[in-house]
Amino acid sequence: MAFDVHKIRTDFPILHREVNGHPLVYLDNAATSQKPQQVIDSIVDYYSNYNANIHRGVHSLSQEATNAYEAARKKIQLHFNSKHNHEILFTSGTTHGINLVANGFSSLLKSGDEIIVSAMEHHSNIVPWQMLCEHTGAVLKVIPMNEEGTLILSAYDKLLSQKTKLVFVNHISNALGTINPIKTIIEKAHAFGAAVLIDGAQSCSHIKPDLQELDVDFYVTSAHKMCGPTGVGILYGKEVWLNKLPPYQGGGEMIKEVTFEKTTYAELPHKFEAGTPNICGGIAFGAAIDYLNTIGFDAIEAYEKELLNYATQQLLAIEGLKIYGTGSAKTSVISFNIEGIHPYDIGTIVDKLGIAVRTGHHCAQPIMDFYKIPGTVRASFAFYNTMEEVDKLVEAVTKAKKMLT
Ligand code: ALA
Repeated sequence: MAFDVHKIRTDFPILHREVNGHPLVYLDNAATSQKPQQVIDSIVDYYSNYNANIHRGVHSLSQEATNAYEAARKKIQLHFNSKHNHEILFTSGTTHGINLVANGFSSLLKSGDEIIVSAMEHHSNIVPWQMLCEHTGAVLKVIPMNEEGTLILSAYDKLLSQKTKLVFVNHISNALGTINPIKTIIEKAHAFGAAVLIDGAQSCSHIKPDLQELDVDFYVTSAHKMCGPTGVGILYGKEVWLNKLPPYQGGGEMIKEVTFEKTTYAELPHKFEAGTPNICGGIAFGAAIDYLNTIGFDAIEAYEKELLNYATQQLLAIEGLKIYGTGSAKTSVISFNIEGIHPYDIGTIVDKLGIAVRTGHHCAQPIMDFYKIPGTVRASFAFYNTMEEVDKLVEAVTKAKKMLT
């Protein structure tokens, strides 16, 4: 299918609204993506026609809902290319998936074991590991980054040892847009027998990963970053690891047999899926994956690269504007500041012109500390943004600069 951004935009009802009297220019896609009509329709269809609890009822409605939910799991498995369907666990999102793994490892680690994270992690890929270290006596080590916002792999080599048990890195930094060399990071960790978790929250909308080819042990992401609803995501874990980890939550659906003396647990994936899940969310996640694959990830990547290059060039023409995250492996995220102006003030002014960007530390305070800044303005582009929208951003930032200096 030829890539036609104007046709694609007709799928997204929200892109046709106004904000503060101006057409919406939505450039906060790293926070959450917008939803196409196809995904919205799948939600309406579920609640209008076959809402029922799953895996529980013999009645027809329950079976329809169960089939649709499990069909979504299958789509997700095929999309991410995991070996087994039961290696895909539904979660409430990336944060849930990371906490599930961290919790599981609290019974597998001992004092003195080491965990490695990168300097450019989101708080959700720092705090759970700090909590795990507190519980187990394990030690957290950090792969440093350079001024460009690129990880220093020679320093990673020095951190790895027989003590390393786990490595956690995001595929793409939410605050900088850097694409990390995850294949190399995984291979190096495996050479020391360490397991690796990749946080795909920021990459899943830009790049289609092949989990078997990556040979990653755990992978987490959220549906809402890839045109699906909030409150649902996945944790992929290799079968061998998911069998080793204890359940995260006890409850219905995750058991084989319960007596007051002893409970035995269900097989994968149900062992980790206690309680009624976000059924509609899972089904709509499947619809979002169908939608994105209809456009095609090669087309998405190529178009977003054009957006990134054009926006970078145009923004850098504004005097005093500095971009954070300037490595060559980068996705369509631009974090910037203008000398002497607080990012929040720029965000507020451009919002008055209908432009949505995120300002602040982006839940990545260590990155802000590294650059000694309070935060940045972040414009994050999706495949439904246009070059005209880049022009509007540049015009609005220029105007904000004039007003604030
Ligand atoms: N982690 C999301 C962001 O970067 C919310 O904005």
